[in-house]
Amino acid sequence: MKKVFIKTYGCQMNVRDSEAVTALLRERGYGIATTETDADIILLNTCSVRDLAEQRAVGKMNGLAHAKKKAKSGLILGYMGCMAQSRGAELLKSPAVNLVVGTQRFHHIPDYLDQLVAGKKSVVDVADEAGSESAVKHHEPGKVTAFVSIMQGCDMACTFCIVPATRGAERSRGIPEIVEEIHKLVDTGVKEVTLLGQIVTSYGRKKSEFVKLLTAVNAVSGLERIRFTSPHPQGFGDDLVAAYRDLEKLCEHAHLPAQSGSDRILKLMRRGYDRAKYLKIIEKLRAARPGIALTTDIIVGFPGETEEDFAATAELLREVQFDQGYIFKYSKRRDTPAATMPGQLPDAVKEERNQAALEIVNAAALCHNTRLIGETVGILVDGRSTKGAKRMLGRTRTNKIVIFDGYERQAGQLLPIKIERATTVALYGNE
Ligand code: 5AD
Repeated sequence: MKKVFIKTYGCQMNVRDSEAVTALLRERGYGIATTETDADIILLNTCSVRDLAEQRAVGKMNGLAHAKKKAKSGLILGYMGCMAQSRGAELLKSPAVNLVVGTQRFHHIPDYLDQLVAGKKSVVDVADEAGSESAVKHHEPGKVTAFVSIMQGCDMACTFCIVPATRGAERSRGIPEIVEEIHKLVDTGVKEVTLLGQIVTSYGRKKSEFVKLLTAVNAVSGLERIRFTSPHPQGFGDDLVAAYRDLEKLCEHAHLPAQSGSDRILKLMRRGYDRAKYLKIIEKLRAARPGIALTTDIIVGFPGETEEDFAATAELLREVQFDQGYIFKYSKRRDTPAATMPGQLPDAVKEERNQAALEIVNAAALCHNTRLIGETVGILVDGRSTKGAKRMLGRTRTNKIVIFDGYERQAGQLLPIKIERATTVALYGNE
């Protein structure tokens, strides 16, 4: 039996795609290797959103190619996902690479591996496929929390972003098939689902469709919690804000990628909102669900970003006091409008602003987390904190990680935990 190892880079959508491919391969009779050295076939599920992610995957593949040449001539190597989609056959330049599969063709990987195992030298498939949004539906067993893909692609035109090119146009699955998938997951013990897509708030092309989906999922009995990612601030209309008030399973956490606090930069990014509109959404969400946790993504060093523009971003971060923030240094992506905009900034400036922004978000995160010391919070226990570790890990409804002394059998349980210690990224407590 040939054993496959999939290494995943990037976002939760990629993690989900890798899981679905793993499940399909298992069904086809392939073994799943737990380590790279144990594998006959290694696939890299790639990310293109920043250059660093691409470099990591290419570096990894070069290492694997070297090992193949030296000692493992039978090793089958492949790229899948976003970088495979945007670079295509070019990736076969390395003779060690056998397979390149794009973002709409994952479900054909078992067929392609069969062909490669039978002796075919290489396969490249980065075609579009109508209906591919419904192909990512296979799950691995034994989970407490599951990702459910509800759509693929993105029709937005943010000037920095490569995703519309790598994931194609927006295509949504129907509500009944998503709800059916969730029912099945709940039957296997799943307690929490995260609805996934590149832009979930555009689900069904109309905002209210997404709220209809949330309402339908909220009605699934046995399910305890609903999350979703990634949304666009523009999608937070009054109906979605009301859902935070009305749907008891929808967790009190919203990820609202601001990207910048400067109106001038937001316009250049073509984000479709300004600072005032963004802050209004925050205000409405906090009113609808007091205590809601808010997180964000920020890009620093976008072309033409002045000290004044960055100061506006820093000010936004201080004003909102996010529970967590992810700061990214602007990375030039091929064929995006921002790549050729004037005022590209040197890395030193990006790095300086990255550090400054991080300091603000870390201070706010620590402040939010420290406030919970001495409180008893409700968590859903996910499993061991890391593979083989003694301590267990769960999450609050606000999506904060809680690490505590517990037992494997508690996985899937909702438990009260008293918090004793806090860092910027996690809470620690005892049962
Ligand atoms: N450079 C830096 N960060 C980027 N992101 C998307 N494109 C780029 C880019 N070209 C960030 C955005 C997005 C997150 C997933 O990645 O902040 O929300």
